[in-house]
Amino acid sequence: MKKFLALLLALVMVFALAACGEAETEETTPAGEETTPAGEGTEELGYIGISMPTQSLERWNRDGSYLDQQFQAAGYKTMLTFANNETDQQVNDIQNMIADGVDLLVISAIDGMALNTVMDEAGTAGIPVIAYDRLINNDNVNYYVSFDNYSVGQLQGEFLVEALDLENAEGPFNIEFTAGDPADNNAPFFFNGAMDVLKPYLESGKLVCVSEQTDFDVVATDAWDTDTALARAQNILASYYADGTQLDAWLCSNDSTALGVTQAIQSDYAGDNTVWITGQDGDEANLKNIVDGMQSMTVYKAVANEAVATLDIAKAILAGDPVDQALIDNAGWDFEANLDTETYTTSDSGHAATSVLLVPTTVTTENFEEVLVAPGYYEVGEDGYLHATQN
Ligand code: BGC
Repeated sequence: MKKFLALLLALVMVFALAACGEAETEETTPAGEETTPAGEGTEELGYIGISMPTQSLERWNRDGSYLDQQFQAAGYKTMLTFANNETDQQVNDIQNMIADGVDLLVISAIDGMALNTVMDEAGTAGIPVIAYDRLINNDNVNYYVSFDNYSVGQLQGEFLVEALDLENAEGPFNIEFTAGDPADNNAPFFFNGAMDVLKPYLESGKLVCVSEQTDFDVVATDAWDTDTALARAQNILASYYADGTQLDAWLCSNDSTALGVTQAIQSDYAGDNTVWITGQDGDEANLKNIVDGMQSMTVYKAVANEAVATLDIAKAILAGDPVDQALIDNAGWDFEANLDTETYTTSDSGHAATSVLLVPTTVTTENFEEVLVAPGYYEVGEDGYLHATQN
């Protein structure tokens, strides 16, 4: 079965690549190929600028290539850039796209507040923007495609409630917190989702944060950086746990930060009990840690589906069709998504981006075969660990 799926996936990729080739050559040979309906060259279908934050964090490589492939296979011309986690670079990338005449922008912001000027420029040029995964705080941004960020945090919190059996066990259990980049609009959503689940137990004393560091601003990690998360975790372990105090859980908002925390626990925590550690993304290094029992879970977000949703929304926008519940109902997606027109406000004026939010899934050793391997996102390598089938 696994071999069959791998073969199927390989075939799909071969066809997708062939389709990309067609779309690219379509500019010089505007014949009526299937991906580019007769009479419509690539230019007529549209030119899409795709700006991703960085290649240094695993998932964005996947997002970038899925988006690029999806749009090209559908007959669009694309420009794909990665901004090396540097805001100035991202502004520059987007300005180049505008100057090059893109019809629509798909942007995952490094800093949701720092793209104001360039979003105003896009607005003036009449270029619609889809904020991809991370919201951009500018009222010219009318569309947002993401996973339900608050529910990512809820899943992490609920996982810990169950793992520690907080409803029944006597406790108290000791917990620490590591959140994401304050410049990323998603980060507080993840943190609040988890905190809202865990707060009652912190208030009742069943959960104790020994360091007392429970505010987002204090536990945040600039640029979601693994080494930054590692250094802070080492600090906390040295200051509060070196005397043999038991640590039971560490809420980490994503995998890059969980990687640092896990490293710190391996090297700097002397206790021999299980420390439950959460994550998000299904990065390969973290899935390895999950298989090896060093991380407990990750929240998986199938970014391939996020790219499919983005393509269909872009098509609707370019065709002048509404992005609404009917679009979601009729899209024929084999994944769940919900329309939200209130939560993601782009400024204090209350303007909210029309948001299509996909549904994330908890992954543990119990279900990774079913959630990750069976649909073809990952395969189990000869080393016994999970490897993404596409990067
Ligand atoms: C994404 C996460 C990711 C994080 C760091 C967030 O905006 O939603 O999936 O872990 O950025 O790259």
